[in-house]
Order: sequence, then structure tokens, then C-alpha cells
Amino acid sequence: MSMDILVGLQWGDEGKGKFIDHICSQYDLVARFNGGANAGHSIYYNNQKVTLKLLPSGVFYPNTLNVIGTGVVVNPIQLKQEIEQLIALDASLAVEKRLLLSAKAHLVLPTYPYFDRYYEEHPQFRTIGTTKNGIAPAYANKILRHNLRVGEVYRAAFPIELQAIVARQYIELQQLGCELPLLEDMMAEFLSAIEFLKSLAIIDTELYVNQALKEGKKVLAEGAQATMLDIDHGTYPYVTSSNTIAGGACTGLGVSPKNIGEIFGVTKAYTTRVGEGIFPTELVGVEADELRIKGGEFGSNTKRPRRVGWLDIPALKYAVMVNGVTQLIVTKGDILSDREEVPICIQYEVNGKKQAYFDVNQQEEDIQPVYQMMQGWRGDFTLIQDESQVPTAFLAYIHFLEQQVEVAVTYLSTGPNREEIIELKRK
Ligand code: IMP
Repeated sequence: MSMDILVGLQWGDEGKGKFIDHICSQYDLVARFNGGANAGHSIYYNNQKVTLKLLPSGVFYPNTLNVIGTGVVVNPIQLKQEIEQLIALDASLAVEKRLLLSAKAHLVLPTYPYFDRYYEEHPQFRTIGTTKNGIAPAYANKILRHNLRVGEVYRAAFPIELQAIVARQYIELQQLGCELPLLEDMMAEFLSAIEFLKSLAIIDTELYVNQALKEGKKVLAEGAQATMLDIDHGTYPYVTSSNTIAGGACTGLGVSPKNIGEIFGVTKAYTTRVGEGIFPTELVGVEADELRIKGGEFGSNTKRPRRVGWLDIPALKYAVMVNGVTQLIVTKGDILSDREEVPICIQYEVNGKKQAYFDVNQQEEDIQPVYQMMQGWRGDFTLIQDESQVPTAFLAYIHFLEQQVEVAVTYLSTGPNREEIIELKRK
């Protein structure tokens, strides 16, 4: 059996959580492979909106096992809070018993969010617009080989080594002028979360996942953030610190590229971005405000207003290429309804030359998006049960998109609720 992968194709917040929730019951195992608590997947459970940051989306399905893989950076305090929140919501979900943590995943130490905030706010450093969860400091310390891993928590020397690292970093933060809680309080909260972590299954998840595949189990690798935020292939430096693309699932979970099946890519019918960085089709002013409000485009993690703009085909083509997407999922077409026309960026003009692909090295001021006007659509998307009820003009928009990126759209999300998603029969 091969592993399927799901990734975001834009700058995050494409609605991956909702699609995963839709297909999750088909999988025995759902595995996160990158990022940490910087993600924010909102899912409705028993009519309540629940935001998952670190836990894989399979937690709501009693028969699905959930893996936090090696490529993830784990904040134990956040993980404890998230699990406790789910236990309070529905203890019968037994989330804590269906979770496997990679012993090789790296820990987000309690000092890292403070470093993140310092770099964000200090004028000497670039403002990236991070979630201030300490994600970049965690990956940086991993690469420096200064960090501690989840599996080390059982070692007798762990508390001593942790204390030494945190105390050293605490002094550094003090020298930088950061406002901090007492070191004792910081350590006490972290160590209590570490005790909780020890009650979970900490294992070699790559052995487990590969064995599961051998036994014919269905595995879904769940990507966090999105293609354009990939540390290598995204719009550096305004990116996150991990490999968000499909290839990241192989390294993050220790699964060979020869064992990959479907690669699902999720895109909105328009584009959004949080944080700084290039955004060629960005809208500003009243039009942007209207789209932002209609689409509820405010961060589920940080609540920040998202930047909004039209669909960008050159960027999407690039994302489809670097991920090898085999199926496209389009969300939020309903948000664009009731317009006479919907612009779609089909190419760029860069220094007078037409260009079909997004080039991450180009400067925004050199890029002139070229738009094609598509006929707008109307209608109540909440009534859509199947493809025959999708407004014709919206289907034309979808067909146009398929032709442009040369991948079939297999699912449409038709509204915010859990059940508002339809499958298109065109594989
Ligand atoms: P970091 O991942 O917190 O270091 O933030 C780096 C960049 O990635 C910032 O622009 C964040 O807004 C963005 N980012 C991180 N996680 C997400 C996400 O889940 N959705 C959308 N943007 C994200």
C-alpha cells in the first residue's frame, strides 16, 4: 500500500482541515510531517468549532491512529493543552490513546517563543510575520544540533541538560532585554508538560508507518502550512521553517518516495496570505475588505486579518509542479459568488515579457499580473448536493483552472460546514 499526501498549494489556510476531515474516515493512520503549533486547522465537532494546532486531523475519528512524525517540532505545553481540550470536549474520543509521537521529533523549548518574538519585533531583524510560536528557533537549534528530542525525555540526564540549555538561553534573552517570566516558573510549566508527554506513546514512528503500509493499511500524510511557505521552495525569506511540500512527507515521516500514492493539493478559488512577503494578485482597499469579510479571512491561530487577492495560475502551476499534485481540491467558490465577473490571473508580465510560471526570485514590483475575466456566478451554494447543482459559470471557472494547471479537480468545498463538500467524478 502507498501513502497519500495532502498539501496546501498557496500560502496556507486553503481549507486543508475540512478536506482531511472529509476523507479521514478512509484512512487507518493520519500523520503530520512538518511544522508545529504554527498550524491552525479548524474543524466542527458536535457543532463546536475546534482548532487543532499540533494534533493530526484524524483525532476526531475513533478508528484512526494519529502520528506526530519526525519532521514536526513539538511544544509539549501546547500538546498537553490541546489533548486536555479534546478530552473535555469528548473523553470517549480517547485521543491520548490513539496518538503516536516520533521519538526523533524535536522539542520546542520554552525559550523559543521569546526568541521568535524578539526577532520579529527588533528593528535589526526582518519582520516575517511569524506566529511567534518559536517554530524557527526550534528548527534552527535542530540544525545547529543544540536541541533536545522527544525520545530523550526518558533519559536520567534529561532534566539537567534541559535546565542547562534553558538557563543559558534565558540569560541570552535577558541580555537582549526581553521581558520574561521567572526561570523557575518557565521550567516548572515545561517539566509538568514533559511528564504528560511521557504518558503518551513515544516510538520510532517510521518503523510503525512503514510496517502499517506493508500490512496494507491506508496512510495519509497531512501537510501543515503550504507550498509557497516552504523553506526551500517558497517565497524566502517570508516563509516558514520546514519543508511543506509533498517531498517533506518522505523526509518528515521516513517513507520512501517510491511508496507515494495520491497527492492531494488544496487551493482556494482565490488567494490569501498572512504575514509579509510577495503576493502578485493582492487586492487592497474596499474590494479587499469586502472579500476578507465575506470569506471570514482572519487567522484561525493568530486572528490576524489575512491579505486577499485573485486566483494566481502561475503560482498554482508552480505549486502543482513542485508537489506533483494528482488531484486538486477547490474551496470557497461560494465566497466569490454574486459578482458580474471574476478575474483570474493567467500569466505575469515581467519587464515586458510574458511569463507562465511563478519565479520565487522575482520582486513583486517587477511583476504585472495579466487577468482574464471569467463570467461570475450566483446561487445558493448551501443547497448543492452534487455536481449537477453547481452553478454553470462556476463549473466553467473550475474547468478553466483544470486546463491551465493540467490536473483534475476532484472535490469542491461548497460552504463552511462539515458536510458541505462534493466529489466530482472526473478521475
Ligand atoms: P512561522 O511558521 O510561525 O515561523 O511563520 C512564518 C510564516 O508562515 C508567517 O508568514 C506565518 O504567517 C506563516 N504561517 C505559519 N503557519 C501558517 C499557517 O498554518 N497558515 C498560514 N500561514 C502560516
